[in-house]
Amino acid sequence: MTIAIRDSGAPLGHEISGVDLTRPLDDSTFAGIEKAFNNCGVVVIRDQNLTPAQQVAFTRRFGEVERYPVGSFGLPGQDEILVVSNIIEEGKPIGLIDAGRNWHSDMLFTQRPPRCSLLYCLEVPHQDDKIFGDTLFASTAAAYDGLPAGMKQRLAGLKAFHSFRAYASTKTDGREKEGEAFPDVIHPLVRTHPITGRQCLYLSHSLTRRIGDLGETETAALVRQLIDHITSEPYVYRHHWRVGDLVIWDNCSSMHRAMFDYALPQRRRMHRTTVMGTQPF
Ligand code: SIN
Repeated sequence: MTIAIRDSGAPLGHEISGVDLTRPLDDSTFAGIEKAFNNCGVVVIRDQNLTPAQQVAFTRRFGEVERYPVGSFGLPGQDEILVVSNIIEEGKPIGLIDAGRNWHSDMLFTQRPPRCSLLYCLEVPHQDDKIFGDTLFASTAAAYDGLPAGMKQRLAGLKAFHSFRAYASTKTDGREKEGEAFPDVIHPLVRTHPITGRQCLYLSHSLTRRIGDLGETETAALVRQLIDHITSEPYVYRHHWRVGDLVIWDNCSSMHRAMFDYALPQRRRMHRTTVMGTQPF
Protein backbone atom coordinates (compact mmCIF):
# COMPACT_ATOMS: atom_id res chain seq x y z
CA MET A 1 0.00 0.00 0.00
CA THR A 2 1.17 3.55 -0.64
CA ILE A 3 0.03 6.05 1.92
CA ALA A 4 -0.42 9.79 1.57
CA ILE A 5 -0.64 12.27 4.43
CA ARG A 6 -2.79 15.39 4.34
CA ASP A 7 -1.88 18.13 6.78
CA SER A 8 -4.86 19.24 8.90
CA GLY A 9 -3.55 22.80 9.23
CA ALA A 10 -3.19 22.22 13.00
CA PRO A 11 -0.18 20.61 14.71
CA LEU A 12 -2.13 17.35 14.90
CA GLY A 13 -5.03 15.54 13.17
CA HIS A 14 -3.30 14.78 9.86
CA GLU A 15 -5.21 12.42 7.60
CA ILE A 16 -3.62 9.26 6.25
CA SER A 17 -5.09 7.87 3.04
CA GLY A 18 -4.30 4.84 0.90
CA VAL A 19 -4.82 2.36 3.75
CA ASP A 20 -7.27 -0.52 3.96
CA LEU A 21 -6.91 -1.99 7.42
CA THR A 22 -9.00 -5.04 6.54
CA ARG A 23 -6.08 -6.21 4.37
CA PRO A 24 -2.71 -7.45 5.58
CA LEU A 25 -0.53 -4.46 6.38
CA ASP A 26 3.11 -4.76 5.35
CA ASP A 27 5.82 -3.51 7.68
CA SER A 28 6.82 -0.54 5.57
CA THR A 29 3.23 0.75 5.32
CA PHE A 30 2.83 0.37 9.08
CA ALA A 31 6.17 2.15 9.60
CA GLY A 32 4.82 5.09 7.54
CA ILE A 33 1.64 5.23 9.66
CA GLU A 34 3.60 5.00 12.90
CA LYS A 35 6.05 7.70 11.82
CA ALA A 36 3.21 10.11 10.96
CA PHE A 37 1.55 9.25 14.27
CA ASN A 38 4.71 9.84 16.32
CA ASN A 39 5.42 13.12 14.56
CA CYS A 40 1.99 14.60 14.84
CA GLY A 41 0.32 12.93 17.84
CA VAL A 42 -3.13 12.41 16.29
CA VAL A 43 -3.81 10.80 12.92
CA VAL A 44 -7.06 10.08 11.13
CA ILE A 45 -7.71 7.12 8.83
CA ARG A 46 -11.08 7.41 7.09
CA ASP A 47 -13.39 4.98 5.28
CA GLN A 48 -12.51 1.78 7.13
CA ASN A 49 -14.83 -1.19 7.58
CA LEU A 50 -13.31 -2.92 10.57
CA THR A 51 -14.51 -5.88 12.58
CA PRO A 52 -13.66 -5.74 16.30
CA ALA A 53 -10.99 -8.43 15.72
CA GLN A 54 -9.41 -6.37 12.91
CA GLN A 55 -9.32 -3.29 15.12
CA VAL A 56 -7.61 -5.26 17.90
CA ALA A 57 -5.12 -6.78 15.43
CA PHE A 58 -4.20 -3.34 14.06
CA THR A 59 -3.94 -1.94 17.60
CA ARG A 60 -1.39 -4.70 18.44
CA ARG A 61 0.96 -3.27 15.82
CA PHE A 62 1.50 -0.33 18.22
CA GLY A 63 2.18 -2.50 21.27
CA GLU A 64 0.48 -4.60 23.91
CA VAL A 65 -3.27 -4.05 24.06
CA GLU A 66 -4.60 -2.94 27.44
CA ARG A 67 -8.17 -3.41 28.68
CA TYR A 68 -9.87 -0.32 30.10
CA PRO A 69 -9.65 -0.84 33.86
CA VAL A 70 -12.71 1.13 34.99
CA GLY A 71 -16.34 -0.03 34.72
CA SER A 72 -17.55 -2.96 32.65
CA PHE A 73 -18.10 -1.78 29.10
CA GLY A 74 -15.86 -4.23 27.31
CA LEU A 75 -17.42 -5.43 24.05
CA PRO A 76 -18.95 -8.88 24.65
CA GLY A 77 -16.73 -11.46 22.94
CA GLN A 78 -13.89 -8.96 22.35
CA ASP A 79 -13.27 -7.28 25.65
CA GLU A 80 -10.06 -5.51 24.59
CA ILE A 81 -12.56 -3.08 23.05
CA LEU A 82 -14.17 -0.44 25.25
CA VAL A 83 -17.59 0.56 23.96
CA VAL A 84 -18.10 4.33 24.13
CA SER A 85 -21.75 5.12 23.53
CA ASN A 86 -24.89 6.87 24.72
CA ILE A 87 -27.13 3.99 23.54
CA ILE A 88 -29.42 2.24 26.03
CA GLU A 89 -30.51 -1.34 25.31
CA GLU A 90 -32.96 -3.23 27.51
CA GLY A 91 -32.81 -0.36 30.00
CA LYS A 92 -29.01 -0.50 30.32
CA PRO A 93 -26.21 1.58 28.75
CA ILE A 94 -24.23 -0.46 26.22
CA GLY A 95 -21.11 1.65 26.73
CA LEU A 96 -19.35 4.34 28.67
CA ILE A 97 -21.51 7.40 28.13
CA ASP A 98 -19.34 10.18 29.49
CA ALA A 99 -15.86 9.20 28.28
CA GLY A 100 -13.93 12.37 27.71
CA ARG A 101 -16.32 15.11 28.79
CA ASN A 102 -13.42 17.24 30.06
CA TRP A 103 -9.99 17.78 28.50
CA HIS A 104 -7.86 14.80 29.45
CA SER A 105 -5.22 12.30 28.43
CA ASP A 106 -6.36 8.69 28.80
CA MET A 107 -5.63 6.98 32.11
CA LEU A 108 -3.21 9.64 33.35
CA PHE A 109 -4.20 8.36 36.79
CA THR A 110 -2.23 5.12 36.29
CA GLN A 111 1.49 4.49 36.91
CA ARG A 112 2.06 3.57 33.27
CA PRO A 113 -0.48 5.48 31.19
CA PRO A 114 -1.22 4.12 27.72
CA ARG A 115 0.93 4.96 24.72
CA CYS A 116 -2.07 5.54 22.49
CA SER A 117 -5.78 5.01 22.00
CA LEU A 118 -7.65 4.14 18.80
CA LEU A 119 -11.29 5.17 18.40
CA TYR A 120 -13.34 3.65 15.61
CA CYS A 121 -16.65 5.22 14.66
CA LEU A 122 -19.73 3.05 14.12
CA GLU A 123 -22.56 5.56 14.61
CA VAL A 124 -22.49 9.35 14.55
CA PRO A 125 -25.23 11.47 16.13
CA HIS A 126 -26.84 13.67 13.51
CA GLN A 127 -29.94 15.57 12.60
CA ASP A 128 -30.54 16.01 8.89
CA ASP A 129 -27.10 17.00 7.57
CA LYS A 130 -25.76 18.29 10.85
CA ILE A 131 -23.25 16.08 12.67
CA PHE A 132 -22.76 16.20 16.46
CA GLY A 133 -20.38 14.58 18.94
CA ASP A 134 -17.09 15.93 17.56
CA THR A 135 -13.85 15.27 19.43
CA LEU A 136 -11.34 18.05 20.02
CA PHE A 137 -7.63 17.27 20.24
CA ALA A 138 -4.88 19.57 21.52
CA SER A 139 -1.14 19.18 21.13
CA THR A 140 0.56 19.23 24.53
CA ALA A 141 3.92 19.17 22.71
CA ALA A 142 3.28 22.20 20.47
CA ALA A 143 1.71 23.98 23.45
CA TYR A 144 4.85 23.38 25.52
CA ASP A 145 6.99 24.73 22.68
CA GLY A 146 4.79 27.83 22.59
CA LEU A 147 5.24 28.70 26.29
CA PRO A 148 7.32 31.77 27.19
CA ALA A 149 10.85 30.89 28.36
CA GLY A 150 10.05 32.11 31.90
CA MET A 151 7.13 29.69 32.20
CA LYS A 152 9.25 26.79 30.88
CA GLN A 153 11.79 27.59 33.57
CA ARG A 154 9.09 27.73 36.23
CA LEU A 155 7.72 24.31 35.24
CA ALA A 156 11.10 22.56 34.86
CA GLY A 157 11.43 19.61 37.24
CA LEU A 158 7.98 20.06 38.85
CA LYS A 159 6.01 16.96 39.83
CA ALA A 160 2.23 16.81 39.66
CA PHE A 161 0.10 14.73 42.01
CA HIS A 162 -3.06 13.20 40.47
CA SER A 163 -5.95 11.52 42.24
CA PHE A 164 -8.61 9.55 40.40
CA ARG A 165 -9.95 8.45 43.80
CA ALA A 166 -10.63 12.06 44.88
CA TYR A 167 -12.21 12.88 41.50
CA ALA A 168 -14.45 9.79 41.47
CA SER A 169 -15.59 10.44 45.04
CA THR A 170 -17.27 13.68 43.89
CA LYS A 171 -19.55 11.80 41.47
CA THR A 172 -23.21 11.48 42.40
CA ASP A 173 -24.29 8.74 40.00
CA GLY A 174 -23.41 5.62 41.98
CA ARG A 175 -19.82 5.56 40.66
CA GLU A 176 -18.31 7.30 43.71
CA LYS A 177 -16.24 4.25 44.65
CA GLU A 178 -14.81 3.41 41.23
CA GLY A 179 -11.58 5.31 41.98
CA GLU A 180 -10.78 3.25 45.06
CA ALA A 181 -8.79 0.63 43.17
CA PHE A 182 -6.41 3.29 41.83
CA PRO A 183 -3.71 4.67 44.13
CA ASP A 184 -2.82 8.33 43.67
CA VAL A 185 0.09 8.89 41.28
CA ILE A 186 2.85 11.44 40.79
CA HIS A 187 4.11 12.22 37.28
CA PRO A 188 6.38 14.95 35.92
CA LEU A 189 4.34 18.01 34.93
CA VAL A 190 6.45 18.25 31.78
CA ARG A 191 7.15 14.79 30.44
CA THR A 192 9.55 13.73 27.73
CA HIS A 193 8.00 11.87 24.83
CA PRO A 194 9.59 8.39 24.94
CA ILE A 195 10.05 8.23 21.15
CA THR A 196 10.44 11.78 19.84
CA GLY A 197 12.07 13.29 22.94
CA ARG A 198 9.70 16.30 22.75
CA GLN A 199 8.62 17.98 25.97
CA CYS A 200 4.88 17.64 26.63
CA LEU A 201 2.65 19.23 29.27
CA TYR A 202 1.03 16.48 31.29
CA LEU A 203 -1.87 17.32 33.58
CA SER A 204 -5.63 17.15 33.97
CA HIS A 205 -8.25 19.59 35.09
CA SER A 206 -10.21 16.89 36.98
CA LEU A 207 -7.34 14.84 38.41
CA THR A 208 -4.38 17.12 39.17
CA ARG A 209 -4.59 18.02 42.85
CA ARG A 210 -1.14 19.43 43.56
CA ILE A 211 1.81 20.73 41.59
CA GLY A 212 5.20 20.92 43.32
CA ASP A 213 4.78 22.58 46.70
CA LEU A 214 1.99 24.89 45.57
CA GLY A 215 -1.16 25.10 47.70
CA GLU A 216 -4.60 24.08 46.47
CA THR A 217 -5.60 27.49 45.10
CA GLU A 218 -2.28 28.15 43.37
CA THR A 219 -2.30 24.62 41.90
CA ALA A 220 -5.83 25.11 40.57
CA ALA A 221 -4.83 28.47 39.04
CA LEU A 222 -1.75 27.00 37.33
CA VAL A 223 -3.73 23.99 36.04
CA ARG A 224 -6.36 26.34 34.60
CA GLN A 225 -3.71 28.61 33.04
CA LEU A 226 -1.86 25.70 31.40
CA ILE A 227 -4.99 23.94 30.15
CA ASP A 228 -6.34 27.23 28.73
CA HIS A 229 -3.01 27.59 26.91
CA ILE A 230 -2.92 23.99 25.60
CA THR A 231 -6.51 24.18 24.38
CA SER A 232 -6.16 27.56 22.70
CA GLU A 233 -6.80 27.77 18.98
CA PRO A 234 -3.25 27.31 17.55
CA TYR A 235 -2.87 23.91 19.20
CA VAL A 236 -6.31 22.38 18.53
CA TYR A 237 -7.74 20.10 15.86
CA ARG A 238 -11.50 19.39 15.83
CA HIS A 239 -12.53 16.05 14.40
CA HIS A 240 -15.96 15.80 12.73
CA TRP A 241 -16.69 12.10 12.80
CA ARG A 242 -17.87 9.99 9.89
CA VAL A 243 -18.82 6.33 10.15
CA GLY A 244 -15.68 4.30 9.35
CA ASP A 245 -13.20 6.81 10.81
CA LEU A 246 -10.36 5.49 12.91
CA VAL A 247 -8.59 8.16 14.93
CA ILE A 248 -5.36 7.32 16.77
CA TRP A 249 -4.06 9.62 19.48
CA ASP A 250 -0.88 9.75 21.50
CA ASN A 251 -1.61 10.11 25.21
CA CYS A 252 1.68 11.90 25.91
CA SER A 253 1.73 14.52 23.17
CA SER A 254 -2.02 15.25 23.08
CA MET A 255 -5.15 15.78 25.17
CA HIS A 256 -8.71 15.42 23.98
CA ARG A 257 -12.29 16.21 24.82
CA ALA A 258 -15.58 14.88 23.43
CA MET A 259 -18.43 17.30 22.69
CA PHE A 260 -21.72 16.40 24.35
CA ASP A 261 -24.00 18.41 22.08
CA TYR A 262 -26.44 15.58 21.26
CA ALA A 263 -28.90 13.29 23.06
CA LEU A 264 -30.97 10.23 22.25
CA PRO A 265 -32.58 9.45 19.86
CA GLN A 266 -29.30 10.72 18.28
CA ARG A 267 -26.98 7.76 18.74
CA ARG A 268 -23.21 7.73 19.06
CA ARG A 269 -21.28 4.45 19.12
CA MET A 270 -17.53 4.05 19.10
CA HIS A 271 -15.07 1.23 19.77
CA ARG A 272 -11.90 2.18 21.63
CA THR A 273 -8.73 0.18 22.00
CA THR A 274 -5.76 1.16 24.11
CA VAL A 275 -2.05 0.34 23.90
CA MET A 276 0.14 0.01 26.98
CA GLY A 277 2.67 2.74 27.62
CA THR A 278 5.70 3.37 29.78
CA GLN A 279 6.24 5.20 33.04
CA PRO A 280 6.36 8.97 32.34
CA PHE A 281 9.77 10.62 32.85
C1 SIN B 1 -12.34 9.04 25.01
O1 SIN B 1 -12.00 10.01 25.68
O2 SIN B 1 -11.81 7.96 25.11
C2 SIN B 1 -13.50 9.14 24.06
C3 SIN B 1 -13.49 10.37 23.24
C4 SIN B 1 -14.74 10.48 22.43
O3 SIN B 1 -15.73 9.80 22.75
O4 SIN B 1 -14.78 11.27 21.49
